[in-house]
Amino acid sequence: MSEPSTALIGNQRHLFDIPEDVAYLNVATMGPLPMAACEAGQRGLARKLQPWTIPDADFFADTDRLRPLLAELIGADEAGIAFVPSVSYGLATAARNLALTKGQKILLLEDQFPSNVYTWRELARQTGAVIETISARGNESLSEALLGAITPDTGLVACPQVRWTDGARIDLVAIGARCRSAGAALVLDLTQSCGAMVCDVRAVQPDFLVAAGYKWLLGPYATGFLYAAPHRRGGTPLEQNWITREGAPDFSRLIDYKDAYAPGAERYDMGERSNFALLPALQASVQQILDWGIANIEATLSHQNRALATALETRGLSTGPEADRGPHFLGALLPESAPGDLTARLKAENIYVSKRGNRLRITPHLFTSETDIERFLSALDRHLA
Ligand SMILES: Cc1ncc(COP(=O)(O)O)c(C=O)c1O
Repeated sequence: MSEPSTALIGNQRHLFDIPEDVAYLNVATMGPLPMAACEAGQRGLARKLQPWTIPDADFFADTDRLRPLLAELIGADEAGIAFVPSVSYGLATAARNLALTKGQKILLLEDQFPSNVYTWRELARQTGAVIETISARGNESLSEALLGAITPDTGLVACPQVRWTDGARIDLVAIGARCRSAGAALVLDLTQSCGAMVCDVRAVQPDFLVAAGYKWLLGPYATGFLYAAPHRRGGTPLEQNWITREGAPDFSRLIDYKDAYAPGAERYDMGERSNFALLPALQASVQQILDWGIANIEATLSHQNRALATALETRGLSTGPEADRGPHFLGALLPESAPGDLTARLKAENIYVSKRGNRLRITPHLFTSETDIERFLSALDRHLA
């Protein structure tokens, strides 16, 4: 597959409600809604003031519009997309449909996000599979360590594209290929990369992929999607609800109960998926991401962060080799002398970053200005002096 050509995107602050004196460098915790998405959500919420104006067909309209957009984010077909309210819900759906046997290994990364650990602990308890936690040793990258750990007794690899604590990057195309040759399933949590980093399911071929909408997709909380590979679309959903059944659009005949589901991954949709307030907001955010182009977002954030990484390195805060981290994601190793309340001190100056372990997580976006970065670096100089 050829690399897409990319263009750098100019500053997009005008689309967000971020005051000039706020340096918001914390998309890894929560992405801001673009103002247009907020307006779309408010319009959607207001429809419920007059429920008689909502036609039955609109229980299907937002999801029908969104499914192809979500598919486009990851190079998927729309029949592979289901609506989920959280990563844990999507992972639980995946876990329900993976047949692991006693002694098979489930590979996870050290310090992986808890929703993507507890799900597999429970599956291991139910099946007798064994969790193996992968960490990098010596000079190897985390991605190399994971690749090397996949063997014929691996039943499942569950990992992100970028680790949420430090931005360590996983080569998903290589991991996907190794999983296929070992006969292992691959489940991805793309919450910390989808929308900011290219991932093409045609190249990676995961069994399931899930992403929350409220970080790099710049959507509302409690939105997200699950992708199921073609051979995973005949499984058992977590819930048995009415709208995912064949014939659901005919409300007058819902009591002609149907065992058959609508085609594709729709069977995995959450109950009450037709959220009139949240889905229009998510749609506006996702459309904005697609209009910018994920490859362009990635190139632009990579360019911005390269300069910032250099500035951090000169201050003794290592962000690791560029090739081993997500281009949109900096996890700077703090010196032991760093004040314990560093993020609170920065917050007092309207500078927002997060800390995970001994790493300062710095995750700017297209709305980040040069002034934001200058203010952040000068505050760091003062607080780390
Ligand atoms: C990598 C990753 N996955 C998932 C989530 C959210 O999980 P859930 O949707 O289960 O609350 C987060 C939130 O920080 C995250 O960083």
